[in-house]
Amino acid sequence: MSYNCIFMAKLSVLTAYDYNTARALAEAGVDYILVGDSLAMVALGYASTKKVSLGEMLICIRAVRRGAPKSKIIADMPLRALKSINDAVDAAHKIIKAGADIVKIENAEKETLKLIDKLREENIEVMGHLGYTPQTFDKPILVQDREKLIADAVRLVEHGVMGMVLEMIPTAIAAEITELLNEKNIPTIGIGAGSHTSGQVLVSDDMLGRYDLINPKFLRRYSNQYQDMVRSFKEYIADVQSGDFPSEKESY
Ligand code: KIV
Repeated sequence: MSYNCIFMAKLSVLTAYDYNTARALAEAGVDYILVGDSLAMVALGYASTKKVSLGEMLICIRAVRRGAPKSKIIADMPLRALKSINDAVDAAHKIIKAGADIVKIENAEKETLKLIDKLREENIEVMGHLGYTPQTFDKPILVQDREKLIADAVRLVEHGVMGMVLEMIPTAIAAEITELLNEKNIPTIGIGAGSHTSGQVLVSDDMLGRYDLINPKFLRRYSNQYQDMVRSFKEYIADVQSGDFPSEKESY
């Protein structure tokens, strides 16, 4: 099998939940900004991504759009917060109105495919998400079975997704799915899925070391922002306590 990718340059995707991160991502030139449901854990401190509400997602999407007015923004559907397909369609409209261009939905189960059909009928762009899908079931399930993943990927394409996140999938299976989807000009975005996908996504807070409570194998850290924060806060506290801050120059 050849692992050639028809896309000229690999796509870069990173998450943002706030104005300043979105500004920095836009300035750096990322291809897509993802307002992921990871915000539940890394920005809001919940124990699981299932806890995030639609309202919380909408606040973050609006902030990201303000920070990156021209960027392509993908936003997760907080499926757990939605009771029915009608609720979900309504939520997708709110997500788009808040500033997202594309909604991302986990899994390729029957109900999800029905929802994707409805969204496509209403011209809402949808990105799929296979592999590790923590919104989907009561306990997070990691699907790494080749037959199921390929069947699910094909189903998602038939139902009109514009792209697909592949999370924690063995490299060879992700490469196979990528080759299938490339024939239809549909990119795959990998996270822990090897280097043969059309692009890569990471959670910004993870790669910046701002959220350092987990350390998955696929993560590459580019900064150590949590430790930088602690150091800066300690310096400030010491300066205040010693009277060094504020100086005359910092006073009116
Ligand atoms: O919620 C998120 O940030 C995601 C990425 C892990 C792909 O879905």
